[in-house]
Amino acid sequence: MRDVLILNGPNLDRLGTREPEIYGSLSLSEIGDSCVEFAKAHSLRIDFRQTNDEAELIRWLHEAADRSLPVIMNPAAFTHYSVAVRDAASMLTAPLIEVHLSNPLAREEFRHTSLVSGIAHGTISGFGANSYILALQAMLNL
Ligand code: DQA
Repeated sequence: MRDVLILNGPNLDRLGTREPEIYGSLSLSEIGDSCVEFAKAHSLRIDFRQTNDEAELIRWLHEAADRSLPVIMNPAAFTHYSVAVRDAASMLTAPLIEVHLSNPLAREEFRHTSLVSGIAHGTISGFGANSYILALQAMLNL
């Protein structure tokens, strides 16, 4: 059994009602359930978390660094401006995969910069809720 931490940043707790034309109609807990289901079938154990608080996300990244845990992270808006989240993620020793529901490169220009991509093993964007499953699939092969 391999533990994987899945971390979600601000406003992702609003999925389901938040701009469904961009982010889809599934809630974050439904996305979490599908990750847990995938994980069970692939000998992974998922710890799926969300916060609107930058400091909390940083604490979770520190915990992942201390426990050498692989991380799948949707940093949401923090992606585009948080040097602090990037610095915390830089301390991870196990793989980090960045995920996004939408494809930020196909959206407003301020979303074209990711401070996280440069320190992630890879990024999966634009596949809606399936981005998370694709990230888990990728994690299995790392
Ligand atoms: C997002 C894309 C970000 O630009 C945005 O701020 C989000 C969600 C995504 O999953 O598509 O909150 O990370």
